[in-house]
Amino acid sequence: MSLQSNIQWDIDLIKRHDKSGPRYTSYPTALQFKPDFTIEQYERARTDSHKQDEGLSLYVHIPFCAHVCYYCACNKVITKRRERSKPYLDALFREIELRAQGYDDQRYVDQLHFGGGTPTFLSHKEMSSLMDKLAAHFRLSKTEDRDFSIEIDPRELQADTLAHLKSIGFNRVSLGVQDVDPAVQKAVNRIQPLSMTAHTLDQARALDFKSINIDLIYGLPLQNRSGFRETLQHIIELSPDRISVFNYAHLPERFMPQRRIQTEDLPSPGTKLSMLQDSIQMLTAAGYVYIGMDHFAKPTDSLAKAQQAGKLHRNFQGYTTHPDCDLVALGVSSISQVGHSYLQNSADIEVYQAQLGQDILPITKGLTLTGEDELRQAIIKQLICHFTLDFAKIEKDFDIKVTAHFESELLALKKFEEDGLLSVSDQGIQVHDKGILLIRSICMVFDAYLNQTQTLRFSKII
Ligand SMILES: C[S@@+](CC[C@H](N)C(=O)[O-])C[C@H]1O[C@@H](n2cnc3c(N)ncnc32)[C@H](O)[C@@H]1O
Ligand code: SF4
Repeated sequence: MSLQSNIQWDIDLIKRHDKSGPRYTSYPTALQFKPDFTIEQYERARTDSHKQDEGLSLYVHIPFCAHVCYYCACNKVITKRRERSKPYLDALFREIELRAQGYDDQRYVDQLHFGGGTPTFLSHKEMSSLMDKLAAHFRLSKTEDRDFSIEIDPRELQADTLAHLKSIGFNRVSLGVQDVDPAVQKAVNRIQPLSMTAHTLDQARALDFKSINIDLIYGLPLQNRSGFRETLQHIIELSPDRISVFNYAHLPERFMPQRRIQTEDLPSPGTKLSMLQDSIQMLTAAGYVYIGMDHFAKPTDSLAKAQQAGKLHRNFQGYTTHPDCDLVALGVSSISQVGHSYLQNSADIEVYQAQLGQDILPITKGLTLTGEDELRQAIIKQLICHFTLDFAKIEKDFDIKVTAHFESELLALKKFEEDGLLSVSDQGIQVHDKGILLIRSICMVFDAYLNQTQTLRFSKII
């Protein structure tokens, strides 16, 4: 895959191949997790994955937000009562103690991510004690190339918050922005002046945070093509290292705050496509590389370099430069990947706190992968990260014959091949420039669990 993305925009192809589908931050997707997953299964997975020489990745979910953004699909608790963090942190600390047991204490944590909600809902003191607690139970890396990131809502920062986060070990930040147009901001109940975003970014840069990311969303109420172009232009001028441009997932039956968005204010599918086209055109013209699946990065950023070197990976945090390693996720609703298993904590904060109050791990569902799941997972991951698949490697790693094992899938790829999205040879699959935007549709061919009812639960690809 060449570094510069030569994405080809072909509206007919997009319309023909764009279907509702998963984002494949995991395979199988979370819809396959089962409530009968037991603590014993988790412990077995942890024992099996006893890899002393491998790093460990930690995710910590802080669910609180002081204000609600109407579009939000994250697991969050809206509250102005700052004291709500106390019982939550008590539970989280207990979870850290329980979850740390059984992992080799020689394993370095070289990837740590705080997500939410709004992690900076916590006070500086609480944030420090949380980091101390993690350090007491896991071996946190201190090297330059560690990847300790945190999601930042620029509206929820005090003058010295970023300096404090830097001092306790964070070295990467991701800023939520979505759109800079005041009318759009009002429609989604998120007033965040551009000057505030610019100031936060300047501060982060002055403090030497690396890989500064900005999140945007297209498809929000009152957005239109020219307004979003202005947003993109402003963000390009701010020059963050990474930019995520998410497609607004409007699922009001699942996310209550979205019911406050008037359907008639949403841009049409045609306008959304134009906004995506503009995003790709403007960001690549400004020198960003399209990594895939909503993500852009400067060629000098580690994500772009990892992709170029064939070393990009994908997990619940999206694209990552860290090789597959166990992901221990802590906090309400968080999803872990340990050995051959996925497991998810309760998404209900009351249940989460009550169970940990009784020293019970609040795992509500999970899945132990079969050999077949792992084979398909490897294929989907390789395609989504590198747009190419080497049959010989898959055959060697999984002891199968691709043509025999995936006869129907290879047949299903024919329609993509006829449209010039990819080519299949005896050696493997190569996704072409035309197919890059439709990589999810291509991956879906290898998803053994998809059926009509399930795909309806996902948003459209583009
Ligand atoms: C947990 S939030 C970011 C951190 C912080 N709470 C903030 O808002 O600044 C993660 C990101 O998910 C994205 N997001 C949330 N709801 C979404 C939706 N319905 N569709 C697409 N993206 C969404 C937004 O871009 C948001 O910045
Ligand atoms: S977008 Fe961020 S701040 Fe807004 S409600 Fe969601 S998690 Fe909270």
